[in-house]
Amino acid sequence: MFLYEKMNDENVEGIALLEKENFTDGWSLESLKEEINNPDALYMAVRDDENGKVIASAGMIISFETADIMNVSVSSEYRRRNIAKDLLTKLFEEGRKKGVKEFTLEVRAGNEPARKLYEKLGFVYEGTRPGFYSNPKEDAAIYWLKDN
Ligand SMILES: CC(C)(COP(=O)(O)OP(=O)(O)OC[C@H]1O[C@@H](n2cnc3c(N)ncnc32)[C@H](O)[C@@H]1OP(=O)(O)O)[C@@H](O)C(=O)NCCC(=O)NCCS
Repeated sequence: MFLYEKMNDENVEGIALLEKENFTDGWSLESLKEEINNPDALYMAVRDDENGKVIASAGMIISFETADIMNVSVSSEYRRRNIAKDLLTKLFEEGRKKGVKEFTLEVRAGNEPARKLYEKLGFVYEGTRPGFYSNPKEDAAIYWLKDN
Protein backbone atom coordinates (compact mmCIF):
# COMPACT_ATOMS: atom_id res chain seq x y z
CA MET A 1 0.00 0.00 0.00
CA PHE A 2 1.15 3.56 -0.67
CA LEU A 3 0.99 6.23 2.01
CA TYR A 4 0.49 9.86 0.95
CA GLU A 5 1.80 12.32 3.53
CA LYS A 6 2.94 15.89 3.94
CA MET A 7 6.68 16.44 4.13
CA ASN A 8 7.88 16.12 7.72
CA ASP A 9 11.05 15.50 9.75
CA GLU A 10 10.76 11.73 9.17
CA ASN A 11 10.34 11.61 5.40
CA VAL A 12 12.41 14.65 4.35
CA GLU A 13 15.65 12.66 3.94
CA GLY A 14 13.91 10.19 1.65
CA ILE A 15 12.56 13.08 -0.42
CA ALA A 16 16.08 14.53 -0.74
CA LEU A 17 17.40 11.16 -1.96
CA LEU A 18 14.65 10.99 -4.57
CA GLU A 19 15.46 14.53 -5.72
CA LYS A 20 19.06 13.41 -6.35
CA GLU A 21 17.88 10.29 -8.19
CA ASN A 22 15.57 12.16 -10.57
CA PHE A 23 16.93 15.70 -11.09
CA THR A 24 20.30 17.24 -11.96
CA ASP A 25 19.21 20.40 -10.10
CA GLY A 26 16.98 18.93 -7.37
CA TRP A 27 16.44 20.49 -3.95
CA SER A 28 19.01 19.80 -1.24
CA LEU A 29 18.10 18.35 2.15
CA GLU A 30 18.72 21.76 3.74
CA SER A 31 16.43 23.61 1.30
CA LEU A 32 13.71 21.01 1.73
CA LYS A 33 13.89 21.23 5.53
CA GLU A 34 13.33 24.99 5.31
CA GLU A 35 10.08 24.37 3.41
CA ILE A 36 8.57 22.16 6.15
CA ASN A 37 7.54 25.20 8.17
CA ASN A 38 6.87 27.55 5.25
CA PRO A 39 3.12 28.32 5.35
CA ASP A 40 3.12 29.11 1.63
CA ALA A 41 4.72 25.82 0.61
CA LEU A 42 3.39 22.30 0.58
CA TYR A 43 5.58 19.37 -0.26
CA MET A 44 4.19 15.84 -0.22
CA ALA A 45 5.74 12.40 -0.22
CA VAL A 46 4.53 8.91 -1.02
CA ARG A 47 5.94 5.97 0.93
CA ASP A 48 5.70 2.25 0.25
CA ASP A 49 4.49 0.85 3.57
CA GLU A 50 6.21 -2.49 2.88
CA ASN A 51 9.70 -1.01 3.09
CA GLY A 52 9.05 2.51 4.42
CA LYS A 53 10.87 4.08 1.45
CA VAL A 54 9.91 7.43 -0.05
CA ILE A 55 9.04 6.49 -3.63
CA ALA A 56 7.51 9.74 -4.91
CA SER A 57 7.32 13.43 -4.08
CA ALA A 58 6.07 16.75 -5.38
CA GLY A 59 5.70 20.24 -4.04
CA MET A 60 3.99 23.54 -4.60
CA ILE A 61 4.50 27.14 -3.59
CA ILE A 62 1.31 29.13 -3.10
CA SER A 63 0.94 32.81 -3.85
CA PHE A 64 -2.63 34.03 -3.30
CA GLU A 65 -4.82 32.08 -5.76
CA THR A 66 -1.93 30.58 -7.75
CA ALA A 67 0.21 27.55 -6.96
CA ASP A 68 3.48 26.67 -8.68
CA ILE A 69 3.93 22.93 -8.85
CA MET A 70 7.52 21.73 -8.56
CA ASN A 71 9.67 18.65 -8.71
CA VAL A 72 7.13 15.94 -9.40
CA SER A 73 9.06 12.70 -9.24
CA VAL A 74 8.49 8.99 -8.87
CA SER A 75 11.21 6.40 -8.26
CA SER A 76 11.88 4.56 -11.52
CA GLU A 77 10.69 1.11 -10.37
CA TYR A 78 7.33 2.51 -9.24
CA ARG A 79 6.36 4.37 -12.41
CA ARG A 80 3.16 3.84 -14.45
CA ARG A 81 1.12 2.91 -11.39
CA ASN A 82 -0.79 6.22 -11.20
CA ILE A 83 1.30 7.37 -8.25
CA ALA A 84 2.17 10.77 -9.77
CA LYS A 85 -1.44 11.25 -10.85
CA ASP A 86 -2.79 10.48 -7.37
CA LEU A 87 -0.11 12.57 -5.67
CA LEU A 88 -0.90 15.60 -7.84
CA THR A 89 -4.62 15.13 -7.24
CA LYS A 90 -3.92 15.26 -3.49
CA LEU A 91 -1.79 18.39 -3.91
CA PHE A 92 -4.65 20.05 -5.83
CA GLU A 93 -7.07 19.17 -3.01
CA GLU A 94 -4.73 20.68 -0.42
CA GLY A 95 -4.18 23.77 -2.57
CA ARG A 96 -7.91 24.32 -3.12
CA LYS A 97 -8.47 24.12 0.65
CA LYS A 98 -6.10 27.09 0.89
CA GLY A 99 -7.99 29.02 -1.79
CA VAL A 100 -5.88 28.14 -4.83
CA LYS A 101 -7.75 28.49 -8.13
CA GLU A 102 -4.90 28.17 -10.66
CA PHE A 103 -2.00 25.73 -10.83
CA THR A 104 0.99 26.25 -13.07
CA LEU A 105 4.23 24.43 -13.80
CA GLU A 106 7.19 24.29 -16.15
CA VAL A 107 8.52 21.13 -17.69
CA ARG A 108 11.44 20.36 -19.97
CA ALA A 109 10.03 20.57 -23.49
CA GLY A 110 11.32 17.09 -24.35
CA ASN A 111 9.95 15.38 -21.23
CA GLU A 112 7.15 13.44 -22.92
CA PRO A 113 6.13 11.27 -19.90
CA ALA A 114 5.67 14.34 -17.70
CA ARG A 115 3.86 16.33 -20.42
CA LYS A 116 1.47 13.41 -21.01
CA LEU A 117 0.83 13.19 -17.27
CA TYR A 118 0.02 16.90 -16.94
CA GLU A 119 -2.20 16.90 -20.02
CA LYS A 120 -4.07 13.88 -18.66
CA LEU A 121 -4.73 15.87 -15.48
CA GLY A 122 -6.20 18.74 -17.50
CA PHE A 123 -3.22 21.08 -17.72
CA VAL A 124 -3.17 23.22 -20.85
CA TYR A 125 0.06 24.14 -22.67
CA GLU A 126 0.29 27.94 -22.80
CA GLY A 127 3.77 28.67 -24.14
CA THR A 128 7.50 28.14 -24.10
CA ARG A 129 10.29 29.77 -22.12
CA PRO A 130 13.33 29.45 -24.41
CA GLY A 131 16.53 28.05 -22.87
CA PHE A 132 15.01 28.05 -19.37
CA TYR A 133 16.80 24.90 -18.19
CA SER A 134 20.50 24.21 -17.90
CA ASN A 135 22.36 20.88 -17.47
CA PRO A 136 21.45 20.29 -20.30
CA LYS A 137 20.11 23.51 -21.77
CA GLU A 138 16.49 23.10 -22.90
CA ASP A 139 13.29 25.10 -23.37
CA ALA A 140 10.55 24.97 -20.74
CA ALA A 141 6.96 24.26 -21.70
CA ILE A 142 4.56 26.22 -19.48
CA TYR A 143 1.27 24.68 -18.39
CA TRP A 144 -1.77 26.00 -16.51
CA LEU A 145 -4.74 24.33 -14.87
CA LYS A 146 -7.44 26.87 -14.05
CA ASP A 147 -10.59 26.22 -12.05
CA ASN A 148 -13.71 27.82 -13.44
C1 LIG B 1 6.79 11.96 -15.05
C2 LIG B 1 6.64 11.02 -13.85
C3 LIG B 1 6.54 11.86 -12.59
C4 LIG B 1 5.34 10.20 -14.03
O1 LIG B 1 5.13 9.42 -12.86
P1 LIG B 1 4.23 8.09 -12.87
O2 LIG B 1 3.87 7.77 -11.47
O3 LIG B 1 4.89 7.05 -13.66
O4 LIG B 1 2.94 8.58 -13.67
P2 LIG B 1 1.47 7.93 -13.57
O5 LIG B 1 1.59 6.45 -13.43
O6 LIG B 1 0.70 8.64 -12.51
O7 LIG B 1 0.94 8.29 -15.02
C5 LIG B 1 -0.34 8.87 -15.23
C6 LIG B 1 -0.50 9.12 -16.72
O8 LIG B 1 0.54 9.98 -17.21
C7 LIG B 1 0.96 9.55 -18.53
N1 LIG B 1 2.33 8.99 -18.49
C8 LIG B 1 3.10 8.79 -17.40
N2 LIG B 1 4.30 8.28 -17.75
C9 LIG B 1 4.26 8.13 -19.10
C10 LIG B 1 5.19 7.65 -20.05
N3 LIG B 1 6.43 7.18 -19.67
N4 LIG B 1 4.86 7.66 -21.36
C11 LIG B 1 3.65 8.12 -21.75
N5 LIG B 1 2.68 8.58 -20.89
C12 LIG B 1 3.01 8.60 -19.58
C13 LIG B 1 -0.01 8.48 -18.92
O9 LIG B 1 -1.14 9.09 -19.52
C14 LIG B 1 -0.38 7.88 -17.58
O10 LIG B 1 -1.60 7.21 -17.56
P3 LIG B 1 -1.64 5.65 -18.02
O11 LIG B 1 -0.54 4.94 -17.28
O12 LIG B 1 -3.01 5.22 -17.63
O13 LIG B 1 -1.40 5.64 -19.50
C15 LIG B 1 7.83 10.03 -13.75
O14 LIG B 1 8.06 9.46 -15.02
C16 LIG B 1 9.12 10.65 -13.26
O15 LIG B 1 9.36 10.73 -12.06
N6 LIG B 1 10.01 11.07 -14.18
C17 LIG B 1 11.31 11.63 -13.81
C18 LIG B 1 11.18 12.97 -13.14
C19 LIG B 1 10.46 13.97 -14.01
O16 LIG B 1 10.73 14.10 -15.19
N7 LIG B 1 9.51 14.71 -13.40
C20 LIG B 1 8.76 15.76 -14.06
C21 LIG B 1 9.44 17.06 -13.82
S1 LIG B 1 8.49 18.42 -14.46
